[in-house]
Amino acid sequence: KQTKKAKTKNITSMLTEDRVFQPPKDFAKTAHIKSMAQYKKMYAESIKSPDKFWGKLAKEELQWIKPWTKTLQWKAPNAKWFVGGQINVSANCLDRFLDTPTANKAALIWEGELAEDGKPGEERVYTYKQLHREVCKFANVLKNIGIKKGDRVVIYLPMIPEAAVAMLGCARIGAVHSVVFGGFSAQSVADRAKDSQAKLLITSDGGYRRGKVVALKKGADEALEIKDTDGSRVAKSIEKMIVVNRTGQDVPMKKGRDVWYHEEMAKASSKCPPAKIGSEDPLFILYTSGSTGKPKGVLHSTAGYLLGAKMTSKYIFDLHETDVFWCTADIGWVTGHSYVVYGPLANGATSVMFEGAPNYPEPDRFWRIVEKYGVTVLYTAPTAIRTFMKWGVEWVKKHDLSSLRLLGSVGEPINPEAWMWYYQNIGGKRCPIVDTWWQTETGAIMISPLPAVTPMKPGSATLPFFGILPEVVDEAGKAVPKNSGGKLVVRKPWPSMLRGIWGDPKRFQDTYWAEVPGSYFTGDGCRTDKQGYFWIMGRIDDVLNVAGHRIGTAEVESALVSHPSVAEAAVVGRNDPVKGQALVAFITVKSSVTASPELRQILRNHVGKEIGPVAKPDDIRFAEALPKTRSGKIMRRLLKQVASGEDISGDITTLEDRNVL
Ligand code: WTA
Repeated sequence: KQTKKAKTKNITSMLTEDRVFQPPKDFAKTAHIKSMAQYKKMYAESIKSPDKFWGKLAKEELQWIKPWTKTLQWKAPNAKWFVGGQINVSANCLDRFLDTPTANKAALIWEGELAEDGKPGEERVYTYKQLHREVCKFANVLKNIGIKKGDRVVIYLPMIPEAAVAMLGCARIGAVHSVVFGGFSAQSVADRAKDSQAKLLITSDGGYRRGKVVALKKGADEALEIKDTDGSRVAKSIEKMIVVNRTGQDVPMKKGRDVWYHEEMAKASSKCPPAKIGSEDPLFILYTSGSTGKPKGVLHSTAGYLLGAKMTSKYIFDLHETDVFWCTADIGWVTGHSYVVYGPLANGATSVMFEGAPNYPEPDRFWRIVEKYGVTVLYTAPTAIRTFMKWGVEWVKKHDLSSLRLLGSVGEPINPEAWMWYYQNIGGKRCPIVDTWWQTETGAIMISPLPAVTPMKPGSATLPFFGILPEVVDEAGKAVPKNSGGKLVVRKPWPSMLRGIWGDPKRFQDTYWAEVPGSYFTGDGCRTDKQGYFWIMGRIDDVLNVAGHRIGTAEVESALVSHPSVAEAAVVGRNDPVKGQALVAFITVKSSVTASPELRQILRNHVGKEIGPVAKPDDIRFAEALPKTRSGKIMRRLLKQVASGEDISGDITTLEDRNVL
């Protein structure tokens, strides 16, 4: 017999699953992929002969310096694509357009946080030609200070055009960039610089945040002084620092180490032929949280990544010459890499970059920007959409959003309510929504509707992109029947897949390839429905998704226990109506310490300092002890129930001491 609760739950899930939204009819007229039949045919080809499929696209869509000899060399877990080829990513994003009308169109439209009169609206526009010039000059700046192909460069910048210039400048000479989100702490910068053995750090004096000048170089300076356990500096590999003058605040410049971006640029030549970069040479490292303490340096290589970023942008966002594409992600995350910089530029589209916050000076800032630049394709995260819902539709209604023709979502499962709100209020019921599932590791979108083709179901990322063979499997790695949950794996290699974890092949093997031998393990739970649509159910490892940011519970725990007051810490997720998940930390303090509200604040700030404000626990609960099994393992399942205010259910016979509950 079903309980009442279970019954209602079933009805809602039936409703959402059977609620299908057809793509708008006229969309197919101009779309790159026009029909379900075309998708199915191309998909079948891409799975049957990936070499042929990707080889053809690589030839047609990319400009090569030297053609490749072998399209795919695959021996799990190591894939090599376009073996023997030489290519340059920056040339494919810039130079290739210089002899075309695209040369003089906007490549990057940047909207700053403030204008001189304190009103929103500072803007800078770079045409392809101008961006090319800046990138060539910056590539020469890199060379002038001694950066060579293969050297690692940390980029720690706010959302300013110089960030894109820095990335493309590195790509031009084959230096490997590692962007660290500007909201991360000095400690995080130091750890990442050490792990990648970076030689150069690019930062700015500061940035603007909600009308205030904030410091950034201060963090960079601090990062370079932090001491390691052996007494030496953690980030001692960093020899130079390039500093962008963004705010004009006074910052100390260390002689022999620090140089100003604008001064070096003024001296640099704007001629810089693109370097010949091997297909499999590294393009970038991007650190992301895993289920153990230390963030992992996800490594992406050159040609395959570029092809993935380009083709997903083209087909999923249906990019055309006339589009103004705005991906709201920070370049500190993979979404910013693939869909602010590389994907749109490789397609000759116009990419919008925004420095500020969605509610400054008022909660309509996003809609103001859409209207101002005539944004046609908007790509943002469910957590942002839920926040806009909370702020109220009045803010949206103040602006003309009729330029929009397509909407995208990324970062976490989008709940059907948020989907509907986005569809009705932002898209005016005329824009398809592409709910795109992918990861830092996948480099590009993996599962998503195609806007002219795929019937949409709110909450489902729908069907796989070309060449992607995802499957939902059980503990033994066997495919589960439709409608039952399991682990999401990917059965075949794809061009933009990660090539490893920087400096740690064992962790690469253990994290992604050991769970289901021979297949890529995503860390996500999933089910498919009767039409074969994928419904992502969130992480099944100890990684939380807080406001679209990946945060490893182990990372937060180790930050907490590094504080002298803390004896033990366990961090779990609790559902949050806006952020998706919130962080709840259970803490036992050392015997000499008394738990207090002040200590709670101190610990939150401590995590902010160790990792960054995004990782600050939303709730800290002091406990006498943590629930453990007789063998000493923390029973997180119970803590999750406590954190969510649920009754404790399930088996607690292994609990060592029931009193702690
Ligand atoms: C989650 C961001 C459901 C998922 C591009 C994944 C999603 C993690 C979606 C990767 C989506 C991302 N639907 N879940 N459309 N997109 N996720 O590395 O759990 O920051 O494993 O990459 O975000 O986060 P990452």
